[in-house]
Amino acid sequence: MTRVPYLAARLQGFGTTVFAEMSALAVATGSVNLGQGFPDYPGPPEVLDVARAAIGTPADQYPPGPGRPELRAAVAEHVRRFRGTDLDPDTEVLVTAGATEALSATLLALLETGDEVVLFEPMYDCYAAGIAMAGGVARPVPLLPPEDGAGPWTFDPADVRTAITPRTKLLLLNSPHNPTGKVFTRDELTLLAELAIANDLLVLTDEVYEHLVFGGAEHVSPATLPGMRERTLVVSSAGKTFNVTGWKIGWISGPAPLVAAVRTAKQFLTYVNGGPFQPAIAAGLALPDGYFTGAARDLQFRRDVLVRGLADAGLPVISPEATYFATVDVRPVQPDGDGLAFCRALPERAGVVAVPTGVFYAPEHAHLGRHLVRFAFCKSDEVLKEAVERLRRLA
Ligand SMILES: Cc1ncc(COP(=O)(O)O)c(C=O)c1O
Repeated sequence: MTRVPYLAARLQGFGTTVFAEMSALAVATGSVNLGQGFPDYPGPPEVLDVARAAIGTPADQYPPGPGRPELRAAVAEHVRRFRGTDLDPDTEVLVTAGATEALSATLLALLETGDEVVLFEPMYDCYAAGIAMAGGVARPVPLLPPEDGAGPWTFDPADVRTAITPRTKLLLLNSPHNPTGKVFTRDELTLLAELAIANDLLVLTDEVYEHLVFGGAEHVSPATLPGMRERTLVVSSAGKTFNVTGWKIGWISGPAPLVAAVRTAKQFLTYVNGGPFQPAIAAGLALPDGYFTGAARDLQFRRDVLVRGLADAGLPVISPEATYFATVDVRPVQPDGDGLAFCRALPERAGVVAVPTGVFYAPEHAHLGRHLVRFAFCKSDEVLKEAVERLRRLA
């Protein structure tokens, strides 16, 4: 590991991400960038128009610390509609600068130095850094790719039990899951909920892809399982649901005492953000069910285009049940099975950029995902078509 000058010891190892390297490579080589997960198509006009109209009005100034009341009310109503849970918008909902701030503020608020967090890997990259910034210790449990490429990623419950120690404070879940596209089943979440209750753990659940679920998969929030509401904080965000990842409007909900703790940390991170975007997201959350099912259907179509293209290029694909991402096993076209080397060479070989799944693991476990690579399909028809054509060069 290269030591970064000046950087505090707790953040050594969290240097420049491979996303930056791959995005720079995409620009330098004119490649189609399927590395980073952001859509290249706009959000719904009902949302964009509200933001445009709010600019130049008092909405440009600091919103209230917990978020604008209409957005908190819209989050509570949305949760009631899709999760069947009642929330008090004044005490049980907090608006944040994206899901990222909700996660960091929670970790800073809840963890004492040395407290342990059990979570699955591969994992979204901000979790390990957020835990480190809060002085906590990550205890990753591996998700196992399907043996023959078909079927869902799984985990061994014994690994979760082993990871839980007397120092464990928090179980950090993410379903639908980035980077694997796994949707944790009700049975899996019930087992995890039972472990959380038996060990008196708090649960932080990242559900930013809650609406981007395909086919028969069912998104279940752990907060809705018996005995879980009082110990669970749920994080979500507008970025993925409304194609506005740059707006960074997120929120966290849960029991009032936990939300109050998170608010204490959050007020000294950003205090508030995105004044004109908050009423726009309130309007988005109130859109009819058809908007949300339509967004999932549209993305499922894009998934199918990319998955077919990857398979035609000779890459075995683990087809995701949700999210923006498909995973491939590179071994048939990269005999040493090195996903990072594959990604570094892919712009030259095919004019496409992807990211190696190995970067979503703690360094000591990166070998588990060494042969896997993640491709994003949240891209316009033309971009996906071009990417699929270019990937044929691999076959
Ligand atoms: C699982 C997961 N959580 C959180 C985020 C960040 O969300 P936001 O942009 O709202 O901070 C992402 C973004 O890619 C993500 O994939």
